[in-house]
This record gives sequence, C-alpha cells and structure tokens, in this order.
Amino acid sequence: MNQKPCYILAIESSCDDTAAAILQNDKVLSNIIATQDVHKKYGGVVPELASRAHQQNIIPVVDQAIHQAGITKNDLKAIAYTRGPGLLGSLLVGTSFAKSLAMGLDIPLIEVNHMQAHLLVHFIKDEFPTPTFPFIGVTVSGGHTQIIKVKDYLDFELLGTTLDDAIGEAFDKCGKVLGLGYPAGPIIDQKAKSGNSKAFEFPIPKILNLNLSFSGFKTAVINFIHKNTQKDKDFIKNNLNDLCASIQYTLIEIIFQKIEKAVDLHELTQVVLGGGVSANSGLRLKLKKTAVEKGWDVYLPPLAYTTDNAAMIGIIGYLKYLKKDFGNIKESASARLKF
Ligand code: KG4
Ligand code: ZN
Repeated sequence: MNQKPCYILAIESSCDDTAAAILQNDKVLSNIIATQDVHKKYGGVVPELASRAHQQNIIPVVDQAIHQAGITKNDLKAIAYTRGPGLLGSLLVGTSFAKSLAMGLDIPLIEVNHMQAHLLVHFIKDEFPTPTFPFIGVTVSGGHTQIIKVKDYLDFELLGTTLDDAIGEAFDKCGKVLGLGYPAGPIIDQKAKSGNSKAFEFPIPKILNLNLSFSGFKTAVINFIHKNTQKDKDFIKNNLNDLCASIQYTLIEIIFQKIEKAVDLHELTQVVLGGGVSANSGLRLKLKKTAVEKGWDVYLPPLAYTTDNAAMIGIIGYLKYLKKDFGNIKESASARLKF
C-alpha cells in the first residue's frame, strides 16, 4: 500500500454508538466511542433517543478523536462515514455531519457500508493477522447475520442471511425475558461460563441453504420460560446459568452449522468473523477448536473491534481513498444499504 501519510477522519453512527477515529493510512491513531446508556432502561435501542444522543455526542467525539491523534482538522485528507445499513435517524446525524465538515474543509467524502467494515476491520495495520482473498466472512451483530464470500476488498457476494431476527437480537431478546437488561449478549456469555449447556434443549431450525433463522428459537425459549415460571416463580433464579449456557450453546450451533456448510460448499477454509457477537467467548472457542481439528484459518477481531467502532469505517475509507473512490454530497443515508 502507498505509505505517504494520509489522515482520514472516520465517523460511525449507524445504531446506538457515536464513534470517530483517525487513521494514518491503514494505522489507527485514535478510536473514540460514546456509548448511549439511555437505552438500557427500555431493554433495546429507541431510535428517536439514539438520534438525539448522536446529535449531542458527535462534536465532542470527533474533537476528541482529532485531539488524541495529535493532528488538527486541517491535516485531514478525507472523511469516511457510515452510509448504511442502520437506523435512518442515527445514520442521518453522522451523514450530515460528515458532509458539512467535508464541504467546510473542501476535502473528499467517502461512503462506507457498515457490514463490509465489520469484516475489513481485519486489514487494520499491525494489530492482528490479515486474511487473504477469497475467504468466508461471517457478520454476527445486533442487526445482521450474514455469510459472505469476500473475493476482494470491496467485492462481497452474499451467500446467506437471516430470514428474520439477527443472532445478537436473539441473545438480547432471550436475555430480556431472563431479566438481564440490555444488551444481554455479554451477560449471557458471562453467566454461561458457570452453566450446563445441555441442561435445556432448544430447537435448531432446519433450513436447507445458507440462510438462517432465529425467531423460532427465540419463541421457543420465551414460551419455555413462561411455562416454567408459571409452575415455579423462582425457575429463572434457580436455573439462570444453565439457561444462559443452553441458550448460548444453541445459538452457536445455529450459526456454526452454516459456517461449516459454507466452508464445505465453497471449499474455502479461511473464516473471518466480525460484529458484536464475535466477542462471544463460546463462539470464539468453538471456532478456534475447529480451526485446529479441521485445518481452518479462523480470524477473530480483537474485542475492541468486535462491536461498532469507527476504526473499521476508517480502513475502508483509506482503501477507497487509494482508488479515489469518492462519494458526493447528494448521496443520502440508506437504512437498507446493500453491498
Ligand atoms: O455489531 P454491534 O455492536 O452492533 C450492531 O451493528 O448491531 O453488535 C451488538 C450486538 C448486541 O446484540 C450484543 O448483545 C451483542 O452484539 N454482543 C454479544 C456479546 N458482546 C456483544 N453477544 C454475545 N456475546 C457477547 N460477548
Ligand atoms: Zn455493527
């Protein structure tokens, strides 16, 4: 890659994290995230509150990213921003801010697809091993679950996707009925470590191709918990760790079976993960074990880069900057942006 110093400001605001990063070429100089705690008491992200919080956070977050990188805004060569997919009201804040600043500084604007960024985060320099093309990409987050053949930096072929809920959503909704708060994924992960994953059996959907489904599983868990709490009001309290371990085990099985199928069908043994649920310790362990048993090369992002962040937006910003693949101010935020 061209090593002439090029500073890029990256902005991410697709859901409930306001994030900004500065990259010098493919190296991260700063990576700031303001998490919005306002959603916790509602048990999920409230879109209207998310966009209001982005409005409050965006200037201080960008300011901090620039300051921490030790540069000034006049050093910037381009601004990369998340155009989609995500919550429209949230995306609009980052999009409008990026456009205004790029116009004010008279520098190029670069649009980035959030889901591509979750996978290309692996190309950030010097931080972790880098896969080679082509590979099987797996995005597991609160809004998406996708299996992708990644042929080149920006050449993505969708092989399978969830037909209903995302895997992170399944973690969070099961956690909600267990009274675990939001987001429940990390709490289930923690409690599962002390539980028996075979204590309760939940269904694994039978879908022939590489598509996935989580809503049948989620409904089965919710019904099972309601039925048992009617018989015993302390059912959750007395079985919490086992419930978490059994829920996590089944969710991992659902995604793992599809990853295995994608590897076999496409004869690709590099498996690259991205998205919030790639922080899950059970999923990470299962993939690491499989790598040893089956000779796969598994790439797991460091924990700081699993959930939403702007560094991952910045790496695509840099790749597009090298190709002069610039956006323009007429491009609008897109809640359902495709590859
Ligand atoms: O990628 P992300 O930060 O945001 C979206 O783009 O959706 O993913 C957030 C999701 C939430 O559903 C959260 O519960 C889940 O990632 N998550 C986890 C873990 N850490 C975050 N799920 C299971 N185990 C974890 N350790
Ligand atoms: Zn995400």
